[in-house]
Amino acid sequence: MAYPRIASLKTHDDFLAHLRENHIEMPSDAEVQSGDESPLAQSFDVHNFRVGNRWSILPMEGWDGTTDGAPTDLTRRRWRNFGLSGAKLIWGGEAVAVRHDGRANPNQLLLTEKNLSAIASLREDLIDEHESHFSTSDDLLIGLQLTHSGRFSRPNVKSITEPRTVQRNEVLDRRVKITDDSAIFTDDELQTLIDDFIAAAVRAEKAGFQFVDVKHCHGYLGHEILAGRERPGKFGGSFENRTRFLRDIVSGIDAATNNMQVGVRLSLFDFLPYHPGPDRTGEPEPGGEPNKVFGGGDDGLTVEMSETSKLIDVMHEIGIRMICTTAGSPYTNPHIQRPAFFPPSDGYLPPEDPLVGVARQIAAVAEMKQKHPEMVFIGSGYTYLQDYLPNVGQAVVKSGMADSIGLGRMVLSYPDLPADVTAGTVWQRKKVCRTFSDCTTAPRNGIISGCYPLDPFYKKRDERKQLNDLKKAMQA
Ligand SMILES: Cc1cc2nc3c(=O)[nH]c(=O)nc-3n(C[C@H](O)[C@H](O)[C@H](O)COP(=O)(O)O)c2cc1C
Ligand code: SF4
Repeated sequence: MAYPRIASLKTHDDFLAHLRENHIEMPSDAEVQSGDESPLAQSFDVHNFRVGNRWSILPMEGWDGTTDGAPTDLTRRRWRNFGLSGAKLIWGGEAVAVRHDGRANPNQLLLTEKNLSAIASLREDLIDEHESHFSTSDDLLIGLQLTHSGRFSRPNVKSITEPRTVQRNEVLDRRVKITDDSAIFTDDELQTLIDDFIAAAVRAEKAGFQFVDVKHCHGYLGHEILAGRERPGKFGGSFENRTRFLRDIVSGIDAATNNMQVGVRLSLFDFLPYHPGPDRTGEPEPGGEPNKVFGGGDDGLTVEMSETSKLIDVMHEIGIRMICTTAGSPYTNPHIQRPAFFPPSDGYLPPEDPLVGVARQIAAVAEMKQKHPEMVFIGSGYTYLQDYLPNVGQAVVKSGMADSIGLGRMVLSYPDLPADVTAGTVWQRKKVCRTFSDCTTAPRNGIISGCYPLDPFYKKRDERKQLNDLKKAMQA
């Protein structure tokens, strides 16, 4: 099915008419305000810290660290761009593995003692850049995302999966070549992993980060544990057991650090795995098991957040105050996670107007915010809104449907968007991400990630030709 491109909706009225005609519900302001009084420029408080505005930068890996897990100049450039964006909350920077076997690729950052000063310098570079553009960094909150990639681990060779997981899953096992139970972590192994997360948080504190994100999203290990209803033992089955991993990590971090706060990036809801159907449009892959989906209805294809809400209560009880929301997984159902017009090479054509995916995440966050007003919620998945991102972001924040608007892909193509909106500068249309998915297609094929179509820096790199040749070969 064809959907109009956002760029073809020439005015805000056209955009609103399209939403109306297609029964897609999301608020959007006709006028985006600038200046200190504007809704997106308002501060908010969390953990006794005043965050300077309502823009957040979402974590994004570049597949460009050294094989030891230290940053390179490409990593540093991305973090500097996060600093110049003007956003006052940097949610995690990018996924950093707590140990080698949990790296999603052989170039993912790794938080070892050896890499500590290099990873600390990423934060310092970001602050330098921020201070050189804005009056102060006293209101800039920076965290580090800690991860174990679970069944999506590829720590040694880009093309070789080395999955570790918590339970078998017919469809997903096929995808990552799990054929027996040897990939399943024992309870003792999970206990060791908890210690590794705590040790990584201690290092993150030494590196100056104000919080760590104990990642529970996108099908990686923490997220899979939440759906381990059929796993026996103390980390599976009951809700209490499935939240033990998070609870034990948080209490361990509380005991081992001086003042390290914890946030969680959480897939609020999830669907069954999708795959390309006969005409490449996405459809649920046969064999999916709804019981292994966290935050999905009985059919595995609808949003059902009663356990999500219960989990947020648990998070509050253990001192967590910030949730960076997301949905699903970029591997199994990218249309609900990062709505796009053009799918990545291993994806499928959108099974719905991508705006439906944006609206679904906005509504889910609003529902959780309404139920848990004491928590700070960062929204994600806004990039597909393109030219209307500030209009929707402002309306969402103004109406209290989320506390902060997270930027993912858009910050790769248009890093200074928040600064432009606050300053009321002319909208730089040429920089607007059109969701070409090259930043996902590249790493899926072993190439460093970046915005090849729009960022002049990546446009002229040799990898761009390599990527274009690859895309042509795949289309042939
Ligand atoms: C290239 C790329 C890398 C990403 N890496 C991470 C990551 O390391 N950790 C994470 O939680 N999400 C990651 N994401 C997901 C984004 O944080 C975000 O949720 C997603 O892109 C949707 O937001 P958007 O519509 O603004 O792009 C990544 C996304 C992209 C495109
Ligand atoms: S490659 Fe650039 S334009 Fe394409 S989705 Fe990524 S950020 Fe957007």
